[in-house]
Amino acid sequence: MTIKKLHYISGLIITGFIGIHLTNHFYSIVSVEEHIRVMDNLRHLYRNLYFEAILLGAILFQVISGLKLFLFKRKTAILFFERLQVWSGLYLAIFFIIHLSAVLVGRHFLQLDTNFYFGVAGLNTFPLNLVFIPYYGLAIMSFFGHIAGIHNTKMKRNVLGITPFGQSIIISMIGVCLTVFVFYGLTNRFRGVTIPSEYNVLIGK
Ligand code: HEM
Repeated sequence: MTIKKLHYISGLIITGFIGIHLTNHFYSIVSVEEHIRVMDNLRHLYRNLYFEAILLGAILFQVISGLKLFLFKRKTAILFFERLQVWSGLYLAIFFIIHLSAVLVGRHFLQLDTNFYFGVAGLNTFPLNLVFIPYYGLAIMSFFGHIAGIHNTKMKRNVLGITPFGQSIIISMIGVCLTVFVFYGLTNRFRGVTIPSEYNVLIGK
């Protein structure tokens, strides 16, 4: 099997997790308590040795194979969605390394519950939010941009009269809209979230 095929298969595993992870973040629109309740329930599914070993193994493989594919493809990618796929893939690889390191350090060294407050401490603190807004925003949009790029290559037919290019534009736009909704929830309707004192270590207080 080629590296490209394996990259595609491990990408499907990771997409399964990201689907539930982003749905979880979407629940922050209802309330912080609801976000935490949904995460507590979802953790029964993904916080176990087997699931996490498969997920983290798939991500490690995805990052290494993705960086190889990036080096190989970056010069030959010419069309808009080819370029979007290649560059969003690079961002996702960097994001995965930073995001997972942060979660694992938070959980095992800082002994924090890596819940809603852990995720949004920086996002709700000035001037750290100047980094966290593009950091998280680009991650969600890159995820959808990457899928839009793959869709544009693989899809060969129109749906409801919409060309594969148009369909990929719609996928990208869903990513942009989801980012706005998720940010609305994670920042408590843009008014800000009060971070409990045990998370002060994350925001230099
Ligand atoms: C809106 C921005 C995001 C925030 C605030 C956020 C926050 C978090 C938090 C708090 C955790 C720990 C979960 C737990 O302890 O149960 C986590 C885990 C994780 N996140 Fe995110 N995340 C965001 C976006 C993303 C995106 C876009 C991706 C992928 C492209 C991603 C991938 C992951 C992965 C793979 C884990 C590890 C799951 C595990 O094994 O525990 N996150 N994130």
